[in-house]
Amino acid sequence: MARVFVTRRLPGDAVERLRAAGHEVDVWTEPLAPPRETLLDRLADADALLCMLTDVVDAELLDAAPRLHAIANYAVGSDNIDLEAARARGIPVGVTPGVLTDATADLAFALILAIARRLPEGEAAVRGGEWKTWGPDWLLGRDVHDATLGIVGRGRIGSAVARRGEGFGMTVLHHGRSSGLSLDELLAQADFVSLHVPLTPETRHLIDAAALARMRSTAYLINTARGGVVDQEALAAALHAGAIAGAALDVTDPEPLPPDHPLLDAPNLIVLPHLGSATHATRAAMADLAVDNVLAALDGRPMPHPAT
Ligand code: DGY
Repeated sequence: MARVFVTRRLPGDAVERLRAAGHEVDVWTEPLAPPRETLLDRLADADALLCMLTDVVDAELLDAAPRLHAIANYAVGSDNIDLEAARARGIPVGVTPGVLTDATADLAFALILAIARRLPEGEAAVRGGEWKTWGPDWLLGRDVHDATLGIVGRGRIGSAVARRGEGFGMTVLHHGRSSGLSLDELLAQADFVSLHVPLTPETRHLIDAAALARMRSTAYLINTARGGVVDQEALAAALHAGAIAGAALDVTDPEPLPPDHPLLDAPNLIVLPHLGSATHATRAAMADLAVDNVLAALDGRPMPHPAT
């Protein structure tokens, strides 16, 4: 019997499969993430960790977990985990690819539509009593159909957003590691720039002041990847200066943004609380994959969905 620490209550019944396999499961049931001290303490005698993207798994934590031989991240990204440190200790790390592709792509598209057609402003106007009459030039936005969509990082989610763009009659461009336009060309041509790269040392602040300056002044930036891919200070400056038309973010750095964070004062900005994969079915499917990863590793098998 192994001991598994699960850092948050998960949707669906995947965790029951751990118990059914005879493992002792310790689930952190508080609404907020376990504090660092708790993580360090609970991992002292854990054989496996099923963690969230909010849990920082670094060398210090791994050193405090002498029995650990499986880490399953409840996310497709793994930037919260020091993969090198895990590898050095022979601990496999798993992620949850595929099952959140469409939910995240749907949300990216929702952000494209929301920022272009000014949905939050319209809703606020109705609720605030600001809507007095229909007007020919009130709350005019930008057409999404026939616009040019630039996908940065054409993996699973980027490709799914591209398909949605094609369905809307958009011209779709892409920039990838080994294909497509250069980033500079894409930024210069796109009406909507949608980010779909993992956060790595190479992609941190990929969209910096220089990149924002290459975008059209009428273009929008959409980020459903990781907050760190965008230099938020540069983004705030670009929005204040009207250097781009707007930005719609599902991810920020840090998460959550403090309510007095300067980015939140910028105009033409939508910010969501990292909802990309937040549907009942998707989150249950992610739990299944994470549990599959734990069960395999505890069984001495390779994880079916390893982090790369
Ligand atoms: C992930 O899985 O990496 C997503 O960001 C969670 O929504």
